Amino acid sequence: MRIAVAPTDELPAGTMRLVSAGERLIGVYHCESGYHAIEDRCSHDDGPLCEGDWEPGSCVVTCPRHGARFDLETGIPLTLPAFQPVQTFPVSVVDGMVVVDVEG
Ligand code: FES
Repeated sequence: MRIAVAPTDELPAGTMRLVSAGERLIGVYHCESGYHAIEDRCSHDDGPLCEGDWEPGSCVVTCPRHGARFDLETGIPLTLPAFQPVQTFPVSVVDGMVVVDVEG
């Protein structure tokens, strides 16, 4: 399914949006490297990952529960206690709208 996130001018670099995709929540981030989307569920203990602080330059988010850091581009954890990746989703711009594609 394709989810409309926001017009590009409403999602400038350094901002993010949380969107619903069925039963899942997905954080869509505009890093300096571009748009990236990651599931709002930490792979360590299901923490609300997208409530954590993030850095647009390095494109890294920190889980607010136990502090694991994740690469927003790949979903790969950079620090313990997480050791498994979080799912990421492709983001594109269609007619000036940021969209995220979620399987299922
Ligand atoms: S739930 Fe995210 S680091 Fe533990």
